Amino acid sequence: MTIIKNGTLVLPDGVRRGELAFENGVITKIAPVLEAGAQDQVFDAQGCLVFPGFIDGHTHLDMDSGTTVTADDFASGSCAAVCGGTTTLVDFATQDKGHTLCEALDAWHQKADGKCACNYAFHMAVTDWNERTCAELPIMKERGVTSFKAYYAYDNLRLDDAQMYQLLCALQPLHGVLGVHCENGTLVNELQQEQLARGVTGPAGHPASRPPVVEAEAIRRLCAVAKLADSTVHIVHLSSAEGLEEVRRARRAGQTVWAETCPQYLVLDDSRYALEGFEGAKYIMSPPLRSEADRQTLRQAVKNGEIDTISTDHCSYRFDTQKVLGKDDFTKIPNGAPGIEHRPALIYTSFVATDEMTAAEMCRLLAENPAKLFGMWPRKGCLAEGSDADITVWDPAARWTIRAATQHQNVDYTPYEGFEAIGRPRAVYVGGELAAKDGEPTGVCAGRYVKR
Ligand code: URP
Ligand code: ZN
Ligand code: ZN
Repeated sequence: MTIIKNGTLVLPDGVRRGELAFENGVITKIAPVLEAGAQDQVFDAQGCLVFPGFIDGHTHLDMDSGTTVTADDFASGSCAAVCGGTTTLVDFATQDKGHTLCEALDAWHQKADGKCACNYAFHMAVTDWNERTCAELPIMKERGVTSFKAYYAYDNLRLDDAQMYQLLCALQPLHGVLGVHCENGTLVNELQQEQLARGVTGPAGHPASRPPVVEAEAIRRLCAVAKLADSTVHIVHLSSAEGLEEVRRARRAGQTVWAETCPQYLVLDDSRYALEGFEGAKYIMSPPLRSEADRQTLRQAVKNGEIDTISTDHCSYRFDTQKVLGKDDFTKIPNGAPGIEHRPALIYTSFVATDEMTAAEMCRLLAENPAKLFGMWPRKGCLAEGSDADITVWDPAARWTIRAATQHQNVDYTPYEGFEAIGRPRAVYVGGELAAKDGEPTGVCAGRYVKR
């Protein structure tokens, strides 16, 4: 048995001093004080917060974008995850056109099984909607996939409104959750051509071709489709005040709309696209970074409880060999940025350490709500007797600087270079195994598939 002593536990019903024991991968006892026997291992968490392991509900590992493959695979991505305090990730298995959902799920298991330092689950991204795909949805559920993704952007991935409607209707009897990438792909294509025709070939063309209204329009349309289907929906990577207004409008009308945002939209802004030379390519992601006003509005929404989850949308590409594919044409810059390692530190530093959020609220956004939304609660996302021993012991006094040179993400930059971080995991347990200590991996590969 291992006992974590002297810490402050972030429990579902409050934050209080207490001690926690686990054995065989499961939390067995939580009490104000626990006596350790001679055989027990003790971790002294004096001065630390003890969180349930954080869950990253939005990652793209070992993903082929058509022109290149993400720099992080499941080994490096999960290693970076545990170093930062994340013990479960949910990646997007993605159906190829002309192929089945089962083929996609098999492929993603092959990428991940046996390679992960943290636990992993899969959303299924539906890109080829037809009768065969529809018939596979119950099989997905049998295989532990209860959440799905669809795109309104990217020509090779997107569904139209009729397909979105049919998918939502088909998911209803299965209680499947649908997350949607909300950007109007037709408009994006048009605006991209407009930028290129004006001679804008560099990174600045990216935000110009994906303005907030392109996101807001897609959210509004999705909410209309969901209303017709009488379904709940999940808006992923919400980035703008205009998009948030559409979420509010749907909620006011009585719809259940879950909203996710990402640290990049809370910490960075679109001034990065004006950096010298090709530097702005490091921040090419979709949706793009937004204005300072958008950032402040989203931060307020996080604090108000209007945002349900904060995930990373980790989708890493090297700057020197991959981002550079779009050197002469911003539409060819692979979309995405790394973040799986740094999300807890970014949120702790910029919200909890500044007293804008409590540790319990951070726990809700990074662990509890993703667990509930994605069918893992209470096995994951909470410290409770009987829950999995996925635990992040967080030292709030730690001070460190985010640097590409010292990160574990397999990429040659970080969007947060030089960020002065407050707080860091002292110890991270995955299924009761010590996976990381003081921000460094132990090399233990204890991640398990989370069949939901
Ligand atoms: O730019 C991004 N976000 N790339 C990953 C794919 C997606 O849209 O989520
Ligand atoms: Zn997306
Ligand atoms: Zn994504």
